[in-house]
Order: sequence, then C-alpha cells, then structure tokens
Amino acid sequence: MSQYHIKHLEEYYQVYRKSVNQPETFWAEIAEEHFVWRKKWDKVLEWDFEKPEVKWFQGAKLNITENCIDRHLQANGNKTAILFEPNNPDEASQHISYNDLHNRVAKFANVLKSKGIKKGDRVCIYLPMIPELAISVLACARIGAIHSVVFAGFSASALSTRINDSDCKMVITSDGGYRGAKTIDLKGIVDEALESCPGVENVLVAKRINSDIKLKEGRDYWLQPLLDEANDHCEAEIMDAEDPLFILYTSGSTGMPKGMLHSTAGYMVYTGYTFKNVFQYENNDVYWCTADIGWITGHSYIVYGPLANGATTVMFEGVPSYPDYGRFWEIVEKHKINQFYTAPTAIRALAKEGVEIIEKYDLSSLKVLGSVGEPINEEAWHWYNDNIGKRKSPIVDTWWQTETGGVMITPIPFSTPTKPTYATLPFPGIQPVLMGENGEELDGNQVEGKLCVKFPWPSMARTIWGNHKRYRETYFSAFRGYYFTGDGALRDEVGYYRITGRVDDVIIVSGHNLGTAPIEDAINEHPAVVESAIVGFPHDIKGNALYGYVTLKDTGEGRNQYNLRNEINQIITEHIGPIAKLDKIQFTEGLPKTRSGKIMRRILRKIATHDTSNLGDTSTLLNPEVVEGIMANVIE
Ligand code: WT7
Repeated sequence: MSQYHIKHLEEYYQVYRKSVNQPETFWAEIAEEHFVWRKKWDKVLEWDFEKPEVKWFQGAKLNITENCIDRHLQANGNKTAILFEPNNPDEASQHISYNDLHNRVAKFANVLKSKGIKKGDRVCIYLPMIPELAISVLACARIGAIHSVVFAGFSASALSTRINDSDCKMVITSDGGYRGAKTIDLKGIVDEALESCPGVENVLVAKRINSDIKLKEGRDYWLQPLLDEANDHCEAEIMDAEDPLFILYTSGSTGMPKGMLHSTAGYMVYTGYTFKNVFQYENNDVYWCTADIGWITGHSYIVYGPLANGATTVMFEGVPSYPDYGRFWEIVEKHKINQFYTAPTAIRALAKEGVEIIEKYDLSSLKVLGSVGEPINEEAWHWYNDNIGKRKSPIVDTWWQTETGGVMITPIPFSTPTKPTYATLPFPGIQPVLMGENGEELDGNQVEGKLCVKFPWPSMARTIWGNHKRYRETYFSAFRGYYFTGDGALRDEVGYYRITGRVDDVIIVSGHNLGTAPIEDAINEHPAVVESAIVGFPHDIKGNALYGYVTLKDTGEGRNQYNLRNEINQIITEHIGPIAKLDKIQFTEGLPKTRSGKIMRRILRKIATHDTSNLGDTSTLLNPEVVEGIMANVIE
C-alpha cells in the first residue's frame, strides 16, 4: 500500500485514520518520501488556533520550483509540462517541456532580479491565460518574491486596491488579451490603476495581441527583449518552510478584499498530495483544469499541484463558447484529456446548448471529471455524468476555499462511491466538524450545521496580509478553537458531507465569490443613491444572480429610468468588474433595518426569491412599513 496514492476505499479509511491519530508522523512521511528538501525540518507542526498561529515543517529549507521543475528534468525533461491551448482554435497549441519550462522560468527570474526584485518583495501579476502567467508565477517563487496574481477580469480600481494593499513593487501585464471574439485592453487598465499606486516602480509587458500601446519611459518595459538577453540559469533561492509564497485576494463581508497569505512547504506538500489522489493522475495522463490562474483553483491545480507531480497540465486561454459551445469537447478530443476539472456554472451553460454538439467529439480519453466553486445541483451533476462522463468517469465534487489552499472534502475517484450534490468525505488530514446554534460540535450523522475544521492542515492560509486581527476575527472567533469556513453543511447517514452554501454575506455568482459590501459601496457612490443592499437569488446558469435594492435621494419620476440601472451597473463594473453586475435592480423608499441600524438582509433575500409567506422574526424591525412597499414592487 502507498499512502501517497490511495486506490481503494479501505485504504482511504486506513490512511485517513492514521492522518488523524498520528498527524505529524503521517505528514512527515508524505513530505519526506515525495518532495525534495535542501534541509529537513526540525519540527513537523506547531499550532495554536487562539492566536491563531500555524507552522508546518519548521526549520526545513527548500524551493518549490525545484520540486515543480528541476527534479523532473533528469527522467522527464522532454515531457510536456504545460500544454497551452490558445483562444483561437486555428492558432497552434504550444507544448512547453519541463526543460523549456526550466529555462524560461530561469530567464524570467533573472529579468525580475535585473529590475531589482528580491526575496520578500511583492509582485503583482495581471495577465491573461498565456504561458507567461504560469512562468511569471514560478519565476517569483524561484527567487523568493511573493506573487499576487489579480484575475484579469478585475477593473482598474479593484487592481489598484490590491496593488496598494500589499505594496507591490512591480506589475507584470500584457498589451492585451483575447477572450472569445473580444480583446481586452489590459495595459490600459494597468495604466489607469497605477495613477494611484505610487509604490510601483516597473511594469513588464508581454506581447500578446500586438495592440498599439504606450510604454511609460523609465517605468514600462517590453518583456521579450529582456528575456532574450537574460541568462537561462538561475540558482533557486533557498526558502524557509514558512516563508510566504503568495498572496491571493478573496472577497469578504467588508469592502476591503482579504489578501490571503500562503506559505511555502505546507502548501506544496498539500497541493501535491491532493492533486495525485483527487485526480488519480498517472504518468502519461493529460490533465486539464479550466479555471483561470487568477483564482486559487488555478494556483493549486493548474500550476503547483500538477507540476509537483511531474504532470502535463493544460492551460486554456479562451472561453467555453468560442468559436462555439463545442470548444471544450474539441479540446478534450484534440489533446486526449484524461482528467477534466471545471465549475458547475460552466456545466450548466454547456448543458443548455444540448447534446448534439457533444456527439461530434470523441470523449473516450476521459477518466475523471471534477467540479469546484459552488454546490453542484442534481440536474447539472446528472447531465455531466451522463453526457460527458458517459456514466463511467467518476465525478469528484471538490469542496475547498482560497483560504484552505487545497481540496478539503472530496471523493477519491474509483474508491469513494459518489453521490450527486455530495462532496462526500474529508481528505486525509482534514478534520471537519459541524457546529450547532450554541457553538457545540454536532456528533453523529444526519445533522446540519456550520462547517468548521478543528485541526490544522498544511496548506491553510497563515494570515491576511497586513491584518492578522481580521484573520482571527473572520475565521477563528465565531467558534473558539475552530477554523470557521463560512459555509453551512450537512452530514448524511454514512458520514458524507453536503455543502449547503454560504452562511455569511458572500454570494457565489458563476463560481465567483462576491462580497455584498464592496458592491454596495460602489453603488452608493452614485450621486443619486442614498443606500443599497444586495442579495442573491437562484439563477439557472450562474447558480446565483444579484438582486439590488437601491434607495434614491429623489423620490420623483426619474427613479425607474433605464439609464439609472445602466449607470449603477457601470459603476459596479468600474469598481469591481463585470462579474459583479446586478441582474435585477429595485428602487426602494427605504431598507428594512434593525434598531441598531443593520440592514435585515434575511427579509430582502426572502422577498427577492418570492418566499414571503413567513418573513421570520421581524420584532427587531425599526421600520416595518417599508417592507410592504418593497414586497409590492418586487421584480419578477
Ligand atoms: C467557497 C470558496 C475552491 C476554489 C474555488 C472557490 C464554495 C467551493 C464548492 C463545492 C459547494 C463550494 C464554498 C466555499 N465552494 N467549492 N464543491 N461545493 N460549495 O474558491 O472563491 O475561495 O470560494 O466556494 O462556499 O466557501 P473561493
């Protein structure tokens, strides 16, 4: 039996028990046998959820890129590491071998150094899904710089907030990006963002769409000429186990995004180990995760996890609908994809297009299908299982978060029997618990509560950049001594978990995690707006869509103007990005509030979903009269 590669259900239970009973021995063995270290650790784990503080593999020295690249060169130098599939199907795919990747990362790392980037400096990466994105991430890791990738769909204002929050010295971007039939002016967005980012010294610009952009003298440089001149050898910076690897922002329930900080050794061990098992990756498999590297899914399961296992990982630049809705299946056939990992929102959008388009392609290479980002509804699960997996490829419904770094609750394919809408069982090392209303652990099965984790795991985020207090308050204060996920869940009669959704003010739209507060803050900047409240409502494709209640200053005629709705969505697009646009906007006389002034979103949620037969406890409502008016004008 190999505990690194679980192949039967009994083996899973055996490994799981060991991971709980002897966590330090368990993780030390995984780390020692499957990763390379410059120096071994002195102590496997030290932790205190009160502070909170978690340290894994203290005293160890390593570089994650030696694990993801160098160690594969001898046996697998010519194997494809990254298989790049362009937006345009007529443009050639690129096979970047481990040897190529090694040289390209070294050159890029030397360019970063030549521009003054050192260990510990923060570098913001704002790129489309082109090879330079993965390469720049690895180049930062090579020299110990902390990367902060910002998804290239975010607006200039969202970008500058993130750059300033972590004091990035450099931005890496491109002259633009392709997205289906459209191009996106990324350099223009960066220029606008940098008007309010005094700390940025240099911008490196990759060429992708050959657009006519301006370089700011002394600040901006084309990347390619610098790479051409750079040396293709770069000694890896030797890092401590707990040195920061990257920052990745995620929305919270206040306006400021949270810069989740991940550290090196634990993140590497956990993403490597989960990748191997969750996808049952075998040596010659071709693995494809459709996420963007701008999200945690891309960090952990396009870049680090697959490369730590010497895998071939596909990077797709485009969208599922271009040039038509057969694109995903065309790529599966073309590259004989073995493991395919996507989001429920994509599955629902593709299901809507019917099965004829799928039948044109040979999907017989597929072995494992994955789902991530939000609960997968039963209908989408069956559609995926019947039409893509042909009922022979198990679906792994993987529950995890930006904060957890890696997959936490998931079936192990071919071992764990799957059950639609259930993420099933905790991965080895993960100790989930459900908490009741009074903060007590709910024992036994067939219970529902708030999902917490009671023991540390190697890839948990260590803090929120620059705000440890907020880290403690957000994750460790709802239940003392536990990590609180923000999700609700139930446990069935055999111990399987089903995630029921967020229990806080975060709404998941098309798999994107959106806090209500930043959207409300943006709307409230419109000169005609007094205040606003956002809630989610169920949507066929997006999972949830956004419903906005907006109180205007002027109660006159103008309020239902089409323009005002447009302007509100425009402001949201500028502050956050188009993903946060509202589907429905209702203008209101006021918002229901408690005596302490807190908006009662619970009531607004019920109204938006037309579930008003019982509004629950309204005794603390300060202004019950506004509720009637809101109900009367609800948008269908
Ligand atoms: C939130 C985290 C993890 C990568 C993508 C999202 C929801 C995620 C599932 C799933 C039900 C899920 C949770 C979680 N979520 N995966 N398989 N089933 N819900 O990362 O943006 O940090 O969002 O996504 O609500 O808390 P994220």
